[in-house]
Amino acid sequence: MGSTVSAPSKIILLGEHAVVYGQPSLAVPLVALRAYADIVPLPDHSGLRITAVDLGSQAFVVNTSSADANQPLITAAQLLLNELGSSPPSANILLHSDIPVASGMGSGAAVTTALLRALVVLLGKSLSDVRLNELVYEVEKIYHGTPSGVDNTVIVFEQPIYFVRDKPIERLNIGKPFTLLVADTGIGASTKLAVADVRTLYNENKVLTTNLFDAIGSLVKVGRTAIETGDHVSLGKAMNENHKLLQQLTVSSALLDKLVTVAQDAGALGAKLSGGGRGGNMVALVPLERVVTVKSQLINAGAVRVYQTTVSK
Ligand code: PMV
Repeated sequence: MGSTVSAPSKIILLGEHAVVYGQPSLAVPLVALRAYADIVPLPDHSGLRITAVDLGSQAFVVNTSSADANQPLITAAQLLLNELGSSPPSANILLHSDIPVASGMGSGAAVTTALLRALVVLLGKSLSDVRLNELVYEVEKIYHGTPSGVDNTVIVFEQPIYFVRDKPIERLNIGKPFTLLVADTGIGASTKLAVADVRTLYNENKVLTTNLFDAIGSLVKVGRTAIETGDHVSLGKAMNENHKLLQQLTVSSALLDKLVTVAQDAGALGAKLSGGGRGGNMVALVPLERVVTVKSQLINAGAVRVYQTTVSK
């Protein structure tokens, strides 16, 4: 008898890039857009197969000798099996996802999380979210090089978080629910490359770049208070300011800038790029009565998709 487990996508509200350098960041799960792992147990001794449905149903066989450090799905499965001291169960795990790839929504971390949860279910064991998060982080390193850990943390815990690298996670209290529109540029962009370019900027001019990171960190703190007190005007302002600082870090793009301006002009309280930048997504904080207008203006301006989500807990 099969079952399905899943993990959400995510959006960074404030603090990307600076978070890699120890500044705080704020991220929320997008619960409607998810990665899924369908569990199909097989007869004994059939072995473990992982099928990536969205990659033309490409199949990966996991056995004790299939050590391929660069294949994230196999690495993920082996990390989990080692952690639980188990050999591969006989099953086919079918992975599929609604989350656009390379768009700043954490698709890789969500797929890994769903896969590991499926294995835990298959093995009939338990694993704490804290430990699961650590394992997903190990796999994130294959995708991203030097990830801060914000993606895997918000996805595993599926809660709005205030995240500081190497610190325990802090859950955000939501003072008053707020609605976000996430506009997809349709342009896939490499987070790894954007992070590397910011690193080059940092190495070339540490004082300037550190000032930008500090300014972003201050906005995150303002944003946190705004979320906890339900002050959406201040949260929106912090997002607008954060976008300007990300422009200075060279991680925006012409289309992202256009979508930010269009959202602001159509009534958003704040808007900014989200995630690695250069492509991927823009996020806007929008009062409910402006949602329809902002959404249609974003589509007219070139967004290929617009997702709506309300953050309420
Ligand atoms: O995975 P993305 O594109 O949402 O971006 C991750 C956020 C960065 O701060 C740019 C990188 C990181 O590791 O935190």
